[in-house]
Amino acid sequence: MPPSQLSPQQQESLLAAARKALQRAYARYSNFLVGAAVLTEQGEIFQGCNVENASYGLTICAERAAIFTAVQETKGPKLVIRAVAVVNGDELPCSPCGACRQVIFEFGENAIVIFKNHRGYVQQRITDLLPESFRLS
Ligand code: THU
Repeated sequence: MPPSQLSPQQQESLLAAARKALQRAYARYSNFLVGAAVLTEQGEIFQGCNVENASYGLTICAERAAIFTAVQETKGPKLVIRAVAVVNGDELPCSPCGACRQVIFEFGENAIVIFKNHRGYVQQRITDLLPESFRLS
């Protein structure tokens, strides 16, 4: 079954959760605040923000922070991601980085990703954002 798009109402509520999450962003080096929200197949929502570090490479993106929380906290037998929304605090375009795309795919081969590009907010399949993603076996 191909992944289905979220309704406009579902999209708005997931974006609202992502905007709430970015209030906790710790981005003192880049000032690029990011919030993310993960919607699971069971209907749960988990949030995350980016957390930077003086040793820059230790930074974690908002999407992965949200997904790792979801892995830990989901009430389902295992995490299956239905959708991920990502927002920037200044409403700048913010598509998920390559590392986050790989992590989204790990838990949601059919996931929809909601983000802002140069045309506005869009919904795209993770498989379109990351063709030929890595998997073992
Ligand atoms: N960032 C995210 O949180 N998600 C992305 O998909 C792209 C980048 C963060 C990492 C860093 O804290 C800041 O944005 C600037 O790169």
